[in-house]
Amino acid sequence: MEVILQPTPEAAAELLARLVAHDLRANPRLVLGLATGRTMESVYDRLTRMHLEDGLSFADARTFNLDEYVGLPASDPHSYRHYMQERLFRHVNVDLRNTHLPRGDAADLDVECQRYEELITQCGGIDVQLLGIGQTGHIGFNEPLSALRSRTRVKALSPVTVAQNASLFADPSKMPRRAITMGVGTILDARRVLLLATGAGKAEIIAKAIEGPITSMISATALQMHARCTVIVDEAAAAKLQGTDYYRWIFANEPEWEPYRS
Ligand code: GLP
Repeated sequence: MEVILQPTPEAAAELLARLVAHDLRANPRLVLGLATGRTMESVYDRLTRMHLEDGLSFADARTFNLDEYVGLPASDPHSYRHYMQERLFRHVNVDLRNTHLPRGDAADLDVECQRYEELITQCGGIDVQLLGIGQTGHIGFNEPLSALRSRTRVKALSPVTVAQNASLFADPSKMPRRAITMGVGTILDARRVLLLATGAGKAEIIAKAIEGPITSMISATALQMHARCTVIVDEAAAAKLQGTDYYRWIFANEPEWEPYRS
């Protein structure tokens, strides 16, 4: 795992967008794992700008989102399909047939989870997976005690997550209490993982996720087992990390980060 500190949330989002753009330019048929949440909004704004101003093309990309609320059809304004449509898909030249999210309103949820896993496999697996982190330390909706080898399945949302996300619903009491989410094992199968966390509210969970012991209580700790995981944090989210001198040295000195130091 590498940890990259950036001075501001904007700089952190910019770095993540540049890493995605680099990989997409290198491989136009990239299989890109996408995340939702407030943190990702400025990343999608930047990818949109790169598409409009720098010709970044999504024409041949395939996308798989981490998760979707159970019970919400794609047309629901609170669904993650709607979020993706509004935040990214309708602004860029992605082919919607190549964009995938679990269907939260599927008649048989177990069959839907299986279908999603098989579709990822058929596309050759995920090349780059974007991640945020929830207050519980979840990645996707892998709430406490998610098996570290779990696959796409239905997961009950914890009270902490419900409290974190309910304000995004017009009627908070209507927030679904379950979601379909890629499993921790599904996420660990991605060839590259990029996690973004910004703001003081994430400082404690980021310290636990990066420097704490691996535990199914905090699914993000499983990323310590991933061979190619980069965590991008702003100074506020990095405030409780112990190893920042080392992390800063790597970003300042390792050749692979040279293009991104500006
Ligand atoms: C939701 C998503 C997670 C995401 C989290 C972070 O819970 N299921 O994948 O990481 O939101 O949210 P925010 O960026 O709003 O803090």
